[in-house]
Amino acid sequence: MSIDRRAHWDRVYGAKAENELSWFEESPAISLDLIHATGIRPTASIIDVGGGESRLVDALCREGFKAVTVLDISEKALAAAKARLGPQAAHITWIVADITVWEPFVTYDLWHDRATFHFLVEWADRLAYAERVAKAVPPGGHVIIGAFALDGPERCSGLPVQRHDSASIGAILGDGFALYDSRRHEHVTPSGVTQRFQFSCFRRLS
Ligand SMILES: C[S@@+](CC[C@H](N)C(=O)[O-])C[C@H]1O[C@@H](n2cnc3c(N)ncnc32)[C@H](O)[C@@H]1O
Repeated sequence: MSIDRRAHWDRVYGAKAENELSWFEESPAISLDLIHATGIRPTASIIDVGGGESRLVDALCREGFKAVTVLDISEKALAAAKARLGPQAAHITWIVADITVWEPFVTYDLWHDRATFHFLVEWADRLAYAERVAKAVPPGGHVIIGAFALDGPERCSGLPVQRHDSASIGAILGDGFALYDSRRHEHVTPSGVTQRFQFSCFRRLS
């Protein structure tokens, strides 16, 4: 399953330029807004799960964040992001992995995911994701997940998705995570289609 996913995403990234991908955004404004709202300092560690070719890593570097990790199943996507960043890429930790089987060896003050969690349509995969969050984010840490909203698209990139609201994500993360912010967001794709997202922010309590 993992191999097929990897091949799928490498194919997708190999077929289109960055700004032709439906999830492309010039500036990851809502993600940055939610990250700023946590009040974390530039010394905090951040992981962007399913970061792909996102420009969030560029913005975090510009803002002086010193411990940024980008994880993605697609080696092609990470190679493109590294090439775009140039010499700065050497200061980022890049991980090619399927989030449902990856084993975190360190912890992160902030876990960010825009548009990856909703591809986990099997309950077992969502559970595996939640187990990784629980291992990777210590008490006091933040989890920001942006997923297609309940009235968002039913498919993306040729794959079915599981749409979410904050309650469905909270139920998977469990009682140790408290929801403190929730925002609807309309993403306009490069071809002009509006996609409804729900961003949910949690703090780990225990
Ligand atoms: C819709 S794209 C979003 C990319 C990026 N977060 C952004 O906002 O531009 C979904 C990303 O999730 C990655 N992905 C999909 N399934 C994954 C998995 N099981 N583990 C890790 N990454 C995955 C894909 O390779 C792709 O980069």
